[in-house]
Amino acid sequence: MKPLTIALSKGRIFKETLPLLKAAGIEMLEDPEKSRKLVFDTSRDDVKIIIIRATDVPPYVQYGAADIGVAGKDVLMEHGAEGVYEPLDLEIAKCKLMVAALNDAPEVEGRVRVATKFVNITRSYYASQGRQADVIKLYGAMELAPLVGLADRIVDIVDTGNTLRANGLEPTELICEISSRLIVNRASMKTRHKQIQDILDAMESAVEARRASA
Ligand code: ATP
Ligand code: PRP
Repeated sequence: MKPLTIALSKGRIFKETLPLLKAAGIEMLEDPEKSRKLVFDTSRDDVKIIIIRATDVPPYVQYGAADIGVAGKDVLMEHGAEGVYEPLDLEIAKCKLMVAALNDAPEVEGRVRVATKFVNITRSYYASQGRQADVIKLYGAMELAPLVGLADRIVDIVDTGNTLRANGLEPTELICEISSRLIVNRASMKTRHKQIQDILDAMESAVEARRASA
């Protein structure tokens, strides 16, 4: 049988997932941060790891190019998680999705202009509150938008709040708490049930152990 494929993204998800994979006996043989390769063997012959952009993890898993993936709840909410199971909250890469504004910004009367890379989440958040919003899609540096008059508000990830503070912004509304989730292709869950369930169980125990020791 071909190896089980796990899709991860570089950076914090990769770093924080490694100890959980280790609990399932899966260890990297080389460091992807120091390599241009995209496919990596692991300590288990039956498992390989692919390294892709965070936003690409859901489609890879949905279409079965990867059996398992790890993705932020923000990415799953924004890009949709059709055709995948989401069996485990890994409780890693924790942050908040928030609305932010310039310090002491006045309330906006009427339509509010919101800059964000999370356009779908932002539209449904404002719609759910019956508030009118013009959503401007950006690909990064959202914090700049209110400073230069592009938008009244931004919707972005907040962890320590340092990025907002450094730019004279403050959080104004919490949209939701975010953490990264293990996602599994639906067909793989059936055809490779034991192999996947064993990994899930080991990772779940590791998540519980870490929570208990926190
Ligand atoms: P890309 O590399 O494709 O631009 P990205 O910048 O969103 O993606 P990361 O910054 O590694 O990738 O973020 C991965 C996930 O980690 C996000 O989807 C989010 O759930 C979470 N995250 C993002 N920023 C933070 C943060 N400052 N603190 C904690 N978790 C975060
Ligand atoms: C994320 C996010 C915010 C920042 C929030 O960026 O886009 O800008 O973290 O974290 P803080 O509240 O602790 O400052 P990241 O550091 O991942 O950079 P990136 O968006 O360029 O990946």
